[in-house]
Amino acid sequence: GVAVGRRVRSKRKWGRVIGVLKDLEDSCDTTVGRLKQVVDAMAVEMHAGLASEGGSKLLMLLTFVDNLPSGREKGTYYALDLGDTYLMALRVQLGGHRPSILAHDVERQSIPEHLMTSKGEDLFNFIASVLEQFIEREQNGSGFPLDKRRNLAFTLSFPVKQTSISSGILMKWTKGFSIDDMVGKEVVECLQDALMRRGLNVRVDTLVNDTVGTLAVGHYHDVDTVAAVVIGTGTNACYLERTDAIIKCQGLLTASGSMVVNMEWGNFWSSHLPRTSYDVDLDADSPNPNDQGFEKMISGMYLGEIVRRVILRMSQDSDILGHVTSKLSVPFILRTSLMAAMHEDDSPDLMEVNRILRDTLEVPEVPLKVRKLLVNVCDVVTRRAARLAAAGIVGILKKIGRDGSVGITGGKSRSDSKMRRTVVAIEGDLYTKYSMFKEYLDEAVDEILGGEVAQHVILKAVDDGPGIGAALLAARNSPEDVDTAQ
Ligand code: GLC
Repeated sequence: GVAVGRRVRSKRKWGRVIGVLKDLEDSCDTTVGRLKQVVDAMAVEMHAGLASEGGSKLLMLLTFVDNLPSGREKGTYYALDLGDTYLMALRVQLGGHRPSILAHDVERQSIPEHLMTSKGEDLFNFIASVLEQFIEREQNGSGFPLDKRRNLAFTLSFPVKQTSISSGILMKWTKGFSIDDMVGKEVVECLQDALMRRGLNVRVDTLVNDTVGTLAVGHYHDVDTVAAVVIGTGTNACYLERTDAIIKCQGLLTASGSMVVNMEWGNFWSSHLPRTSYDVDLDADSPNPNDQGFEKMISGMYLGEIVRRVILRMSQDSDILGHVTSKLSVPFILRTSLMAAMHEDDSPDLMEVNRILRDTLEVPEVPLKVRKLLVNVCDVVTRRAARLAAAGIVGILKKIGRDGSVGITGGKSRSDSKMRRTVVAIEGDLYTKYSMFKEYLDEAVDEILGGEVAQHVILKAVDDGPGIGAALLAARNSPEDVDTAQ
């Protein structure tokens, strides 16, 4: 009697867990029909964001980059790349003709966590000290004259309202950074001052978002590159827009007739996005509620956390994980890299899943069917993320008339119209290191565009970081042979 009763109860509980998974699947629905609605919404919001200041949740920021690298860049340029949990310092040597990137040297330093939420000056002092060490270490190797001024490009991967290619004001923080006294400040001035305090002869002459650096590198390698996407800790995109389409800046003139626009698509929102109760809770508990809604469904900072919330719910509704461990209630404890490792565990009995459960969540060994269920959860969350990013990309293509839709090429039917080869550069660990994510994204772009058009659209993973792209842009911005002063 007792044993049978227990078995019935545990069956009922297993049913409840399956119910949780089923609900998750339903609310993460990304049928092609729904993705197409997201595509349309993205294109509409892009128009709105370009039409007027504050016209959309998409900021559609000017970058003052009107000309992308050609391969003729020349000189030695430095770059600092800030926007993640680490800071990168780079030196890039450019030869003046292809392949012009002769050499580069990178150094990566973790940013002490307290600096992400302290005072601006502390963060910039740290940044300056990292650059100083980088320069000190290279003295023997780089051959760069000691007393010569260095030109530096600053990649700051947060929303910045730029006033020129070398200046801009921080609008807000994202990705867990929150340094209140920096909001509204001229970021290049802050960096320049900190470098001066260290006595470094460095001039910060280029300021770019990481997406823009990625577009620059992408374009350097392939001139058909028209847009760039980053899917790492955060997510965002930029693309080349005609200046006459940037209606909020009437009279904006550039030699090329175009300018790169930083969309800040992480803040995109549409009622067509498939949202779950886990997303709602995650947002409410985040340091920036009601902000960066698209980013919170897609990027590396959040995917593991969504999965943790689902697993927590499952363990509360049943005893599939034994008793609920306190570790499982710790926000952000399941990092996306671990979640990806669970998802991609290809050992026959999912031993990696067991290991991560044990080491990270202090969950004792669970049966294979439970491990499989958890892998399923990872799959649902990742698939939704990748497919939404794909819809975002097609939204950009639609906005610039590269989605093959009828009418763009002067009313010709789809089969007559010649689609130009269109390349989108993609950077960030989710796309470059998480193969399931990449597969889902690529597949969804094909599904949405349809085979014929999809043939012309190439998604290219970019290995060179945005810092290299920023250095390429710095070389355009202040070519060394022209700049002989000081
Ligand atoms: C966040 C930032 C954005 C950046 C992206 C990727 O969305 O707001 O500026 O490009 O993360 O790093």
